[in-house]
Amino acid sequence: MAAPDILNGAVPARAKVNLFLHVGDKRDDGFHPLQSLAVFTASGDSLRAEEGSGLSLEIDGPFAAGLQKEQDNLVLRAARALGEAAARPADARLILTKNLPVASGIGGGSADAAAALRALCALWKLDWDEGRLREIGASLGSDIPVCVPSLPSFMEGRGEIVTPVESFPRLALLLVNPRVAVPTRDVFSALTQRSGVGAILPRGRLRDCADLLRFLETTRNDLEAPARALQPVIGEVLSALAALPGALFTRMSGSGATCFAIFPDDDSCARAIGGFSRPPCPNSTSRMKRRARISARELRPALPVKSAQWADLSSERRELGRAAGKQDCKFNKRVRRKNRRCPRGRT
Ligand code: C5P
Repeated sequence: MAAPDILNGAVPARAKVNLFLHVGDKRDDGFHPLQSLAVFTASGDSLRAEEGSGLSLEIDGPFAAGLQKEQDNLVLRAARALGEAAARPADARLILTKNLPVASGIGGGSADAAAALRALCALWKLDWDEGRLREIGASLGSDIPVCVPSLPSFMEGRGEIVTPVESFPRLALLLVNPRVAVPTRDVFSALTQRSGVGAILPRGRLRDCADLLRFLETTRNDLEAPARALQPVIGEVLSALAALPGALFTRMSGSGATCFAIFPDDDSCARAIGGFSRPPCPNSTSRMKRRARISARELRPALPVKSAQWADLSSERRELGRAAGKQDCKFNKRVRRKNRRCPRGRT
């Protein structure tokens, strides 16, 4: 396996955003088949692996408290599974910096586990290919395989079939988390309407943001309705995002509650972050206004503005597409039309 990316001595565990998510009928093993397009932000958690006797995990960062109570988490399970597969003791001191909210639909725990597999491969000098790590990851959680390469990829099966996209544009993406944890299992249990898994995936045809948006308009996140039923604030966040000037496309990621908006460029995304702390429409409920302010404020420490607003979805190893701001003016026209219909502060 290629040496893992190193960020200040740590392996990055990037946030995963599901740009769409279609679900099929429940399988005999209790899981649902799915189709999804997962992309990864430039920032996220990070994990360091050092020599140690026995296996230990220290957690720091703004969201550490959410994990402190857990006796056993995915990172430790991944370390043990790798040690077992390599027939060696799982000796390591792991240090996880938790910058992403937990149970938030952006694969934080899965990305941490995948980062542990990559970091420990380097520490234990295992020259394993990614396929082997994805298999170990799949035995621990459906989202871990796609987090091993952390590249824009289609997900199929229950998540374990990962096909990286040939080329992918950079996107200006704003993520908002309303700070409600939504357990994935509960969302799947509340699911009633499914798109099925028959969509034709545009493998290798996503040259620019306009291409991507054309495809996304034909898709849904099937988990959005059940997640909104469990946590109505998700609907409020989506409305607030859609009302932001310049927002081209909004949706929930994974099983929620994190939602995202795609902007034509990083400047409009940056401006929208400022606007998000203000109520987007005068007839919003006061609860929504409060939530909108809370969301924006709380997002900032979690996902530093610079990296959160500009999610580098292409990664160093992927060819960069054209700058999003210069893309298909059809979408920009549509936004201008929308903004004329709904000038700032009005529905
Ligand atoms: O695989 P993971 O541990 O992330 O899944 C958590 C829960 O989400 C599963 O127990 C299952 O209820 C549900 N799930 C599903 N179909 C998938 C992925 C997850 O039903 N493809």
